[in-house]
Amino acid sequence: MSKRRKNGLYGEPSPELSALMRSGWADTEQRDLKPLEQAPYAARRRAALSARFPGERLVIPSGNLKIRSNDAHYPFRPCTGYVHLTGDQSRDGALVLEPRPGGGHDAYCYQLPRDARDSDEFWTGDTAELWMGRRHSLAEAERLLGLRCRDVRAAATELAAAATVPTRILRGHDPVLEAAVDTDEERDAELEETLSELRLVKDEWEIRQLRAAVDSTVRGFTDCVRELSRAVATSERWVETTFFRRARLEGNDVGYGSICAAGEHATIMHWTRNDGPVRPGELLLLDAGVETHTLYTADVTRTLPISGAFTPVQRKVYDAVYEAQEAGIAAVKPGAHYRDFHEAAQRHLAERLVEWGFVEGPAGRAYELGLQRRFSIAGTGHMLGLDVHDCAQARNDTYVDAPLEPGMVLTVEPGLYFQADDLTVPEEFRGIGVRIEDDILVTADGNENLSAGLPRRADDVEAWMRDLAG
Ligand code: GLY
Ligand code: MN
Repeated sequence: MSKRRKNGLYGEPSPELSALMRSGWADTEQRDLKPLEQAPYAARRRAALSARFPGERLVIPSGNLKIRSNDAHYPFRPCTGYVHLTGDQSRDGALVLEPRPGGGHDAYCYQLPRDARDSDEFWTGDTAELWMGRRHSLAEAERLLGLRCRDVRAAATELAAAATVPTRILRGHDPVLEAAVDTDEERDAELEETLSELRLVKDEWEIRQLRAAVDSTVRGFTDCVRELSRAVATSERWVETTFFRRARLEGNDVGYGSICAAGEHATIMHWTRNDGPVRPGELLLLDAGVETHTLYTADVTRTLPISGAFTPVQRKVYDAVYEAQEAGIAAVKPGAHYRDFHEAAQRHLAERLVEWGFVEGPAGRAYELGLQRRFSIAGTGHMLGLDVHDCAQARNDTYVDAPLEPGMVLTVEPGLYFQADDLTVPEEFRGIGVRIEDDILVTADGNENLSAGLPRRADDVEAWMRDLAG
């Protein structure tokens, strides 16, 4: 791709410079690469996908770079479905499952190969390797992924030429490939649903990734508590950047925009501006997750008294949310309905709100009418994995209306949020927001709280903060 700026300092290279640039490069082919650790797991996931769509070609692009402005790009993150089925993270690629005449599929992967050095593009193109970093050769990618690899620059032509095979594509990631295959939107949506559903139960390798994501996240929260006085001296941004440092040092990134919400910002579900003051006496709601190098993310929330001790009214709200979370976590077990943990937590919140006189009782009726939602607008959790809200395209009958199974990982995150301008609650509640969120693995006989390394009970939170303050 040529430069999107008109005002570069250099004009066209001289023939002498072009010739100079093209020669004198060492052979850097990596011939001893071992397959990625996740390659055999990805092969099993492809086999599961193959069984769902006999006789059809499936195209799952990795996605393209997105321009932020001119020749500057947003950081690239490959499409989740592609990562799940290949383990690969490169841009401009596509996995293809090609149906075999006798049944099953042959898988191959389109990849953007290394830049050839026989034209100026390898050093003048704004997404060329000399600007963006080395890519893998097709042979290297084959060794890493355990998949046959082909040059993606031929993909549109090759796929268009073979249009007689019924084809589905994962939409929204590569407009050029979408145009080449010209598929049916509804049938493509079924592919997207299936890809989400294939991720509902995590394999052992994925669970290891999620454990690593959570462990880094626990360290990130600890960093933030250690540096709370610096946040008080500056702003919520100190918390955000402290967590981000841990995420970038130990993983790929944060898995979503960190929510570093002090004071009344804690009542805003997705407060990511993080530009407010951090005041002693108020609460800090920190909702953040490290994304591993393999792109699996944690999603954890703790609500912390900035001065180190809850006020009586903060503790009253905190304890209600803690008890709701306990009820929710207890409902996570194989065979239980997915909605059970949500219902258990929300019933508890409704009871407390009725008890406090904030909504009209009896509690059962308040829950049935959803009245607690005035103070708790979100659901109580979601699946977690490569995406923070993982499996989001799965059909209801496989997700929210289905039983839990061992290997599922989900968040349980009840909260109460009293807006600063809510005249229906006593003044001392206004501006208080509390959420407690943990990442829960469904096991054969119950569940495991992956984020148990962070304290949850009010007393334990205070003791932990005291310890870290030294
Ligand atoms: N932690 C952000 C969310 O679950 O929406
Ligand atoms: Mn969450």
